[in-house]
Amino acid sequence: MYKYIHRTKGEGKPMDWGMKNRLSRFIKPATGHTVMLAVDHGYFQGPTTRLENPRATITPLIKYADSLMLTRGVLRTSVDAENDVPIVLRVSGGTSMAGNPLSNEGLTTSMDEALRLNACAVALSIFVGSAHEKETLLSLSELVNEGEEIGMPVVAVTAVGKEMEEKRNARYLALASRIAAELGAHVVKTYFCDEFEKVVNGCPAPIVIAGGKKLETEMDAFNMTYEAVRAGAIGVDMGRNIWQHDHPVAMIRAVRAIVHEDYTPKEAKDLFDSDIKVPAKVLECPPKAPTKAKSR
Ligand code: 5RP
Repeated sequence: MYKYIHRTKGEGKPMDWGMKNRLSRFIKPATGHTVMLAVDHGYFQGPTTRLENPRATITPLIKYADSLMLTRGVLRTSVDAENDVPIVLRVSGGTSMAGNPLSNEGLTTSMDEALRLNACAVALSIFVGSAHEKETLLSLSELVNEGEEIGMPVVAVTAVGKEMEEKRNARYLALASRIAAELGAHVVKTYFCDEFEKVVNGCPAPIVIAGGKKLETEMDAFNMTYEAVRAGAIGVDMGRNIWQHDHPVAMIRAVRAIVHEDYTPKEAKDLFDSDIKVPAKVLECPPKAPTKAKSR
């Protein structure tokens, strides 16, 4: 449908070819939606559960992902360059779970490196409301300045960190997302919350949701994905709810079906239930055409 492959959701000056091409590599023009696979957690958490060996976690999932979000270290060590999966390169960091505070991030990776690695976007976290709000927002602005020059989209993550967990509400996330869009982020990654449509409606850039901590059941993840897309998100940039599950391939296929094929959570669960009965390696990609024809 191509509805979000533009500078904003509304009117804007025409986008340069390179920028548009990079965006359309991971925001699929056929649906205007995306399933990004987030595997960047180690950049501040170290060997996160079930991402201890990144190559082992990533390999079976690559063909179902519209992009991989990761650091240059994991890209170079754990993903073969022959893959044509679009790369969203995490370029912020400098903090860890062992230190304080997480919001004290800076830029870790240059735009030249992003180009060398053939990235289709760069991603950084902003920490609105934290002691380091200004530095992270200026880092976003710097990336956008460079990104606009060379045609590299910037994904801004409205991070909350361990200090700000209570801020996962519409009021805060709408504020942070809007600021990211105002500073020029091409895509905003935020969290799902009650009244999520307030976050989407207040943000003139396309929004993807993070999955957050692994939810109790797969149905919880399907419901969240469905509600987010229904509220206007263009998809997910999901990690733990996919690869911390015992059936990660079935999870990403079901999430894809919701994001790209308009499956309901119940239909996604049916797909998941049938997928887990067959070995992951014989599953098709992309998931079979939906059994019902839906128009978006
Ligand atoms: C950390 C990130 C992660 O990529 C993000 O949280 C997505 O992963 P998950 O779905 O596991 O939350 O940006 O700042």
